[in-house]
Amino acid sequence: MAATCAGCHGTQGRLESSEFAPLAGMPEAEFIRAMRDYRSGKRQSTLMGNLAKGFSEREVAAMARYFARIKQ
Ligand code: HEC
Repeated sequence: MAATCAGCHGTQGRLESSEFAPLAGMPEAEFIRAMRDYRSGKRQSTLMGNLAKGFSEREVAAMARYFARIKQ
């Protein structure tokens, strides 16, 4: 799943292009909140809103665990 994110956020969530926020090492709770807010439209976004709609709560939780475990 995380491969979908690598195109913009870098492989393994590390920052490769400075335009995009790094996901590696992001706390689980913060990650989940960000994805929920994108999905509901509470958080403004150009791209992440549509993207976040494509994932279930369980998938978001799994990705949160995955990215939080990667060391920056
Ligand atoms: C098409 C490019 C693109 C893809 C693919 C993409 N993102 Fe993003 N992401 C962005 C952009 C751009 C932002 C900044 C907010 C905005 O304008 O949408 C962002 C912001 C975020 C943030 C907030 C970061 C912060 O520091 O608050 C999270 C979390 C995030 N993305 C998660 C993901 C996840 C998880 C995936 C894979 C399912 C993903 N993104 C795939 C472009 C992308």
